[in-house]
This record gives sequence, structure tokens and C-alpha cells, in this order.
Amino acid sequence: MEKMKILLVDDKKENLFALQSLLGSEEIEFQKATSGTEALELLLVHDFAVALLDVQMPEMDGFELAELMRGAERTRAVPIIFVTAGAHNRQSTFRGYEKGAVDFLYKPLDPHIVKSKVQVFIELARQRQLLRHQLEETQRALAARDEALATAKEALRTRDEFMTIASHELKTPVTSLKLQLQMSKRRIDPAKNLMPTPAQLTNLIDVSNRQVTRLAELIEDLLDVARIRAGRLEFTPQATTVAEIVEEVTERFADQLDHSENKLTIDVPQGIAVEWDRSRIEQVLVNFVSNSIKYAPGTLIHIAATAERDHAVLSVRDEGPGIPKDRQPKIFERFERATASRSISGLGIGLYIANQIVRGHCGRLRVESEEGKGAKFIAEIPLRPFSTNMISDTKPRSSHDPLP
Ligand SMILES: Nc1ncnc2c1ncn2[C@@H]1O[C@H](COP(=O)(O)OP(=O)(O)OP(=O)(O)O)[C@@H](O)[C@H]1O
Ligand SMILES: [Mg+2]
Repeated sequence: MEKMKILLVDDKKENLFALQSLLGSEEIEFQKATSGTEALELLLVHDFAVALLDVQMPEMDGFELAELMRGAERTRAVPIIFVTAGAHNRQSTFRGYEKGAVDFLYKPLDPHIVKSKVQVFIELARQRQLLRHQLEETQRALAARDEALATAKEALRTRDEFMTIASHELKTPVTSLKLQLQMSKRRIDPAKNLMPTPAQLTNLIDVSNRQVTRLAELIEDLLDVARIRAGRLEFTPQATTVAEIVEEVTERFADQLDHSENKLTIDVPQGIAVEWDRSRIEQVLVNFVSNSIKYAPGTLIHIAATAERDHAVLSVRDEGPGIPKDRQPKIFERFERATASRSISGLGIGLYIANQIVRGHCGRLRVESEEGKGAKFIAEIPLRPFSTNMISDTKPRSSHDPLP
């Protein structure tokens, strides 16, 4: 229990000690002053349950001190007990009664009366303290509830927005596919022996292929989000090199890079041997590169890798619009996008999945970017995160984050 503070004011030190030993108890902390000025100083620092003021003091007497106390906001409510030599009629010289509790003790002091009077004020202060604590607790609980409510609302809003975007994203390739098929159907007429030309057929197959691939990717990403949420994103490590992974990914992007007029440079040494889930790390790289193509078309994309002691550092840099500083921490979260414009399509889950994969490999993913000056995504991944020789606290885990 918190100690209650009592202020004792008397110009005679022996009186102060006499009072203290009379009242002395475990639950009380005494502050002693031998003058009004000293008492005022103490009043500025401490919160007192009650102040016992000797009335007869040189310079500032007890009543004057009490009037000063009543005049100041901070000390107005401190209950006062005057200790006086017994001139009862002098009570009237103090004019602060209406503002707070006041009581009198007459010398010679009766220990029993002194104790019981002081006890009343201590009890009052305790009640006040209890109420204050309860109030604070209620306020804290209310604030926590408001915060939880706001978080839940925000999560709902993001989810709704995501559903709208996801439906739209899924619909686009389906619509295009439908159109292609309808157009081809019109080119076929058995009655007139009409058939599409080989060139038309090739075009149909190419376009359809692209749309089906896009659909499959979208569905695969959505499934990954579901797997992560369920803690079921699992990794199958295999021996490979960083160069092999980068080569595989850049080959896949050859056509797209041509189309987007991005220039690609690669600085990846041969021979950085790793044991990673190859297709998952490829997926991370695919996310980086496809973002650069999408958000920084026509700029230079630079893929680099280095080996540092027990981990590899893999990065993709572009010279596009970059990402505002305040949005950077958000982009690794589910459904979060930093682009205001809806014209660039995306679900806002690519980097979320990439981050979960890197974390699943005991690694770290971060972004370095300044608005207007390009973006650099950097993954630091242990060379052998799944090896049993690794210390237990860096043990690989399947990705999972708690429900909101
Ligand atoms: N290279 C980049 N340059 C500028 N902004 C970027 C870059 N990469 C990512 N961003 C920003 O980060 C956001 C999150 O990226 P993320 O890949 O997670 O989602 P997305 O590209 O919007 O959608 P998708 O889930 O289809 O990948 C993007 O919406 C974009 O605002
Ligand atoms: Mg993306």
C-alpha cells in the first residue's frame, strides 16, 4: 500500500518530533517544516493527506500559511489541522473555512484525540486515492477498448477493400479470356468451311495462356495468404546457388522486361551455395522484379547478391517513384498498398508473402527508398536456415501471424 504523507509545521523542532512519535505508524510518511516558507516548498513537491500547522510561529503564523495554501490551486484541498495553545477565539481569524476541511487541536495535546483526528483525514485520503486508481483503471480499460474497436474497424475496412480489388483483379483475365473465345468462335463456321488461320490460332493460344497464367498466379497468391494465416506455409530446402535462382527468375521475365523497356543488370557471383526452398525464394525475387516492372517501368533494374559469413544478401533495386517513408513499414502487411492510384493493378499481398517466406527462412526483409529516388528491396537470409546445427532460437518456422 502507498504511504500517506503528513505535513508537520512547527517552529520548534522538539514539537515536530513529539508529534511524529505520537502519530508514528507504518503507513505514514512525515515531512517536517520549521517555517511557513519551508512548508510551502514541501507543499509544491508532495501530495499531503493532511497538514498539521502550529498556529504560533514567528514571521508567518499558521493562519497566514493556511490562507496562502487556500489561495493556491495545488494546495487548496489539503485538509488542515491547526495546533494552538488554546485561545479558542482566535479560530475566527482564519477565513478559509469554506474552502476545505479544517480542524483544531489544543495544547496540551491529548494523544488519543490527536491520533483519531489525523486518522479521519488519512482515511479520507485513502478513499480518494482508491477512487482515483479506479478511475484511472476505468479510463485505461476504455482507451484499450476504443483502440481495439478502431483496429477491428480498420481490419474490416481493409478486408472489404481487398475483396473489391480481388474480385476486380480476378475478373479482368476472365473477361479477356471470354472475349478471346467468343472471337474465335465467330471465326469458325463449318457450313462455310471457315476456320481460324494458324496465325490467329497462335495469337488466341498466346493471349489465353497469359490470362490463364495471371489467373493461376492470383489464385496461388490468395492460397498462400490463406496458408500463412493457417500457419501452413511449409518449406522444402534443397541445395542450390543464388546465381541459379536469379538466372531462373530473370529468364522468366525476359519477355516482360522487353515489353516494359526496363534495363536489367545483374551482379551475382557464382558459387554462393545455399540450402533454401528454391521455388519459394524464387517467388520472393519474382515479387521484387514484378513490382519494379510494374511501378518503375523503363528504369534500370539491378539485381545483386553477396555472401556475408553465414548469410546471403539478395537485393533488387529500381529507379522508379520510390515509396514514401511513412508508408514503408506498412507495405509488408496484408492488403497494404502504397500507391494511391488504382490504375496500377495489384492485391497488396506480394510483399506480405515475400516477407513471410524470408522470415520462414530465418531471414529479414527490408526496403530502402526515398520518394522519387527509386526503391531497393533487400533480403538477408542465412545460407542454411534449415540445418539442424543451427542454434535453436533461429530454428526455421512455418510462417504464421496471429489473427487480428
Ligand atoms: N519497386 C517499387 N516501387 C514503388 N513502390 C513499390 C515497389 N514495390 C512495392 N511498392 C509499393 O508497395 C506496395 C505493396 O507491394 P505488394 O507487392 O505487396 O503489392 P502490390 O504490388 O500492390 O500487389 P500484388 O499483391 O499483386 O503484388 C505496392 O502497392 C506499391 O505501392
Ligand atoms: Mg506486387
